[in-house]
Amino acid sequence: MKGFVTGVLTTLVVGAGIGLAVVYGGKVDVAADSPHSDLIFSLLETAREKSIDQGVKGLSVPINLADKDRIRRGAGNYDAMCVSCHLAPGTENSEIRMGLYPTPPNLSTLDEPSTEEAARKFWVIKHGIKASGMPAWSKGGIEDEAIWDMVAFLQVMPKLTQASYGELVEASEGHSHGGLTGGELMHGQGSDVMTAPAKVNGRSGHDNSDGHAH
Ligand code: HEC
Repeated sequence: MKGFVTGVLTTLVVGAGIGLAVVYGGKVDVAADSPHSDLIFSLLETAREKSIDQGVKGLSVPINLADKDRIRRGAGNYDAMCVSCHLAPGTENSEIRMGLYPTPPNLSTLDEPSTEEAARKFWVIKHGIKASGMPAWSKGGIEDEAIWDMVAFLQVMPKLTQASYGELVEASEGHSHGGLTGGELMHGQGSDVMTAPAKVNGRSGHDNSDGHAH
């Protein structure tokens, strides 16, 4: 028994020593352009999924997610805050998305949405995902109702064409924190950091010789 305990302790001390040497020796590669090993990737993915599973427990999804006004309001916020990373119907990629690791999922092409998925989306949008580039939008002042509006919009986006996406965004109130019309927290078009998206589908406004050129 004594030998077993000594063995376990030695393994723990040696393991911790190796771990510290790896970290302090600068051997953990944090560069976003070099992928994780399969093992680390699958561990992180499992941790993310299990954490979201815990987070969504007891979350109740509004019954009116198919409400047209919700979808319309969600479209405006999505277009203002999310499209550069998560794309939209008719867009292929963006500079920011190509550089992020993990790559933000293309939310315009996801499968048939479900209520369970709606809850997961709400949780991820509200709380974000550590060290991934996915912000916790609640910290930016986006209220729960506005997040549900975006979830409502995400449920229908994969069925939209480029034209119907544009029409919905046009019909929305643009970017608003509460998902409601008016209010002091509303921004006008162009006042947002995210309203100047990267080159989405080649229709960018920033690849001219006066501004940002490649
Ligand atoms: C700067 C880039 C960036 C922006 C902007 C961004 N996201 Fe994300 N998002 C990510 C990344 C990266 C992930 C994947 C994180 C991971 O899997 O670890 C993600 C994941 C998600 C997911 C989970 C998808 C799934 O099925 O796992 C949802 C939903 C989502 N984002 C919605 C949004 C919405 C809505 C907005 C705008 C309000 C937004 N995101 C803005 C980078 C971004």
